[in-house]
Amino acid sequence: MANARIDIVGPAEYALIASLYNQVFRPAKEPGFFERRFRARYQPLILVAHLDDRPVGFFLGFELKPSVFFAWLYGVVPDYRRTGIAAQLMEAAHDWAREHGYSSIRMECYNHHRPMLRMMVARGYNIVGIRWDPDHSDNLILFERDLSE
Ligand SMILES: CC(C)(COP(=O)(O)OP(=O)(O)OC[C@H]1O[C@@H](n2cnc3c(N)ncnc32)[C@H](O)[C@@H]1OP(=O)(O)O)[C@@H](O)C(=O)NCCC(=O)NCCS
Repeated sequence: MANARIDIVGPAEYALIASLYNQVFRPAKEPGFFERRFRARYQPLILVAHLDDRPVGFFLGFELKPSVFFAWLYGVVPDYRRTGIAAQLMEAAHDWAREHGYSSIRMECYNHHRPMLRMMVARGYNIVGIRWDPDHSDNLILFERDLSE
């Protein structure tokens, strides 16, 4: 099991986030994409996982409403997967959300993101719905977890 260092970072690290994102997702994004997406958000949370000082994974989230935090994205670079990095990021995000007064956390996940789907189910998330994403012409599965559990 990995023993990553999980850091909370700020807007100065959007270039690092874009670099990690682009190792995980396509199409590639510029740092400005993250700046734009977070601009009007309350309580943004940006976590970066480091192994031996190398950034290997990230989490992005923000407040959905006063009692509910939203987990927007998890990503771990391919060479470092299946060693528990995402699990550490999730635990850190849950702890932070709990400490900041949120009672539950939500996430949306495409059906084809199978490792993430498995992780959500294995980590106690409930499936609470499904919605059509017109941007990607695909369904998103909606997950929620009570943070007091
Ligand atoms: C999903 C992702 C973040 C998981 O990262 P990871 O660091 O490899 O995950 P972990 O090693 O911490 O595994 C945590 C749990 O996820 C599940 N899981 C992760 N990878 C899996 C795989 N390839 N197959 C099956 N289950 C998997 C398991 O439940 C695992 O728990 P376990 O080890 O106790 O069985 C990573 O695969 C990734 O970046 N994928 C591409 C991006 C993506 O799909 N992001 C989600 C959309 S927001």
